[in-house]
Amino acid sequence: MSGQESDDSVIRRDRFSGGPARGFLSSLEADERIFAADLAVDRAHVVMLAECEIVTAEVAGDVLRALDAIEVDGHGALPAGEDVHEAIETAVIEETGPDGGKMHTARSRNDEVAACIRYRLREDVLEALEATVTLREALTEVAETELETTMPGYTHLQPAQPITVGHWAASYEQAVRRDTERLLEAYARINVSPLGGAAFAGTTFDIDRERTAELLGFDGILENSMDASSSRDFLLETVQALSTLATTLSGIAEDLIIFANRGFVDLADDYSSTSSIMPQKKNPDTLELVRAVAGDAAGGVQGLTTTLKGLPRAYNRDLQRATPHAWSTVDAVSEATRVTAGAVGTATWNRDLLATEAGAGFSTATGVADLLAANGVPFRTAHEIVAEAAANGADLEAIVAAAEAVLETPLEDVVDLAAVEAALDPEASVAERDSVGGPAPDAVAAQLGAAETALEAHREAIADRTAALEAAHTALREAVMAYV
Ligand code: ARG
Repeated sequence: MSGQESDDSVIRRDRFSGGPARGFLSSLEADERIFAADLAVDRAHVVMLAECEIVTAEVAGDVLRALDAIEVDGHGALPAGEDVHEAIETAVIEETGPDGGKMHTARSRNDEVAACIRYRLREDVLEALEATVTLREALTEVAETELETTMPGYTHLQPAQPITVGHWAASYEQAVRRDTERLLEAYARINVSPLGGAAFAGTTFDIDRERTAELLGFDGILENSMDASSSRDFLLETVQALSTLATTLSGIAEDLIIFANRGFVDLADDYSSTSSIMPQKKNPDTLELVRAVAGDAAGGVQGLTTTLKGLPRAYNRDLQRATPHAWSTVDAVSEATRVTAGAVGTATWNRDLLATEAGAGFSTATGVADLLAANGVPFRTAHEIVAEAAANGADLEAIVAAAEAVLETPLEDVVDLAAVEAALDPEASVAERDSVGGPAPDAVAAQLGAAETALEAHREAIADRTAALEAAHTALREAVMAYV
């Protein structure tokens, strides 16, 4: 904490030094996360104040030069302060003299902090978005390579119907696609400017809110000053979207843990751990941690919701403790998403074992019932026949016997026995299920076409937003250069 020994009496006056609760009041350490954001927000505000002739170009130049020096020294060199906003202002005044205090004209820390959180969070959400795309690329690749790899499909963890690894992977690509969409929607509501809301009740100064929004790369402003300075629904929405993503990840992780346990898939050593005592062990620890991140994220939602619930309008200091839930959640979930992508992308599927196991537990039973139904037997009766066969050997012979008992006529009068035999073959059974979205290789290939189209659109959406932020960076720097 070097550099933080100087006191903040410039702004606090001696009466509000915080006393014994000083550390409790302060968010300075946690605010390191928004140090760069606060400098940008300060710059945009000061440029706007000068453009609107609320401060002189000379004062703006002094403040902007001081901000550049503060940036070089870094967050660790800031003087003490209740938060980064106050510490930066103190450092500016130390550098420029009292006129530096004009930088806080027509604003409050309330609109300032809200702007900083939004400014930083959009970068973090872009990273999370990138991670979802990377994961979808990995899933799509598995779906392509394992398009014809028959495997057992489960309900209630019991063999249910044969599917393919491609169908499994495509199913998760479509789930994660919705997570991408949810995060993009959250992004749109993050990326609006609260600046100019001031404490909550606007300002007497003739400010240009659209201009600060533009300089910071926001897509627009939050109009009502009270809403602008005090709403945190954007945090809740983002953390909820991340929690939903983490829940999807936990499902992928759990499936892979089970599949690895059954020998269906080998995880790469990079995504496995060994035991400190049992030398033969290769454990799916990485995926177990991914599974657990869903708990962290749910905790983030819970913590944030509980903090925000019932807060009176407008700013209350509770909000200071709301923000870290968003940082910890976005960090954990982005990392878990990248790790899941790595684990999925490097796993090897054991095709032979999967093929052998695909028919286990009479998993083709539904296909046989479907075949009988397609040949005129009411599906409910077909279900009864196959259920009886399942209890008496689960093979062709058992089906013939059960059919004869129930239908009171030989099975070959109803359906070609060769077709029944084919329906008992897992691979043929999968190939038959070619309804839209089904597991048949052609049906999965069609899903992958849509997956590629969506991936392309989402890559572009992320690139557009990243480019817009970079353009705003450059525009802000240019605007600053007119004064320094
Ligand atoms: N550090 C505070 C936060 O993170 C912002 C300060 C506003 N403080 C105040 N007393 N109005 O929310």
